[in-house]
Amino acid sequence: MLKKILAVVLGLLLGYWMIDDFNPENVKGKRVFITGASTGIGEQLAYHYAKLGANVVITARRENRLKEVVEKCQELSTSQQKHDYVVADMMDLNSTEEVIEAAVSKLQGGLDILVLNHIILLDLGIWTGSKHNISLIEKVLKVNFESYVYLASFALPHLEASKGSIVVVSSFAGKFGQPFVSIYSASKFALEGFFGALRQELKLRNCDISITTCILGFIGTENAVNQLSNYGQTFLLSVLKPAAPSDTALEIIKSASKRVRQMYYPMLEIYPLILMRDWLPETCEFINRYVYTLNS
Ligand SMILES: *[C@@H]1O[C@H](CO)[C@@H](O)[C@H](O)[C@H]1NC(C)=O
Ligand SMILES: *[C@@H]1O[C@H](CO)[C@@H](O)[C@H](O)[C@H]1NC(C)=O
Repeated sequence: MLKKILAVVLGLLLGYWMIDDFNPENVKGKRVFITGASTGIGEQLAYHYAKLGANVVITARRENRLKEVVEKCQELSTSQQKHDYVVADMMDLNSTEEVIEAAVSKLQGGLDILVLNHIILLDLGIWTGSKHNISLIEKVLKVNFESYVYLASFALPHLEASKGSIVVVSSFAGKFGQPFVSIYSASKFALEGFFGALRQELKLRNCDISITTCILGFIGTENAVNQLSNYGQTFLLSVLKPAAPSDTALEIIKSASKRVRQMYYPMLEIYPLILMRDWLPETCEFINRYVYTLNS
């Protein structure tokens, strides 16, 4: 009897996971603003949104890259769609209000989806407490955390008007402290705190803005692979097969469109440890550490 019940429950869960009720029509015509879109997942998000019929404005620091990405978006689009870019450095929190206003004006006065995806690129390393380490704290929290709060804040009135969505691209490191990226981990944990609270306030206020947090595992972007290989993580690179940035971007778009609260990708690689981390912390940390190599 128990076995039968278990089988039914498992079957239902599996079925639930496998249902893909994403409707591409829901993305058509949407006004999307994506940060950190000159490369990696952000770039792939721009291409998928363009293909799905959205109007996309992207931002990053390098204008030449932004131009190239916008051009490619245009090639993937119909003639009615319009894409554009805003050059910005997220270290400059003062500029975030102008960045949102520029994006909204390029999107014909509205915003449906704000995708917060940028991060400051760092070398991996042990936290020894050196002067150099200390100098990272402000920079990393500014770019990876504070600028997310600023951008979301200035976008709120526009998103409230459109009943829109905020997509926060985060990481397994934002659920489970990871060696060699301690301050990055901290900035991603901070996002969970802020956007977890904001999500509930929006519900309390009956404000129909969805917040989708994306908990990503090892994604094979050029930056991620280079960082790991520069830091000699050859064992990790040999045992973990990275997910493709393009597949990852499409999953993010589907989850955002379905107004999912939190998405995990690749699910089977990261969800078990996240699920078990408070029950069996030492075992989970032991398993987690297994993929890393300490360099002298
Ligand atoms: C940010 O703006 C404030 C007020 O306009 C100004 O006092 C401050 O110097 C600016 N900071 C930077 C880093 O530009
Ligand atoms: C912290 O500082 C030490 C000593 O300078 C350095 O070897 C290490 O890579 C730094 N850690 C990070 C995360 O940058």
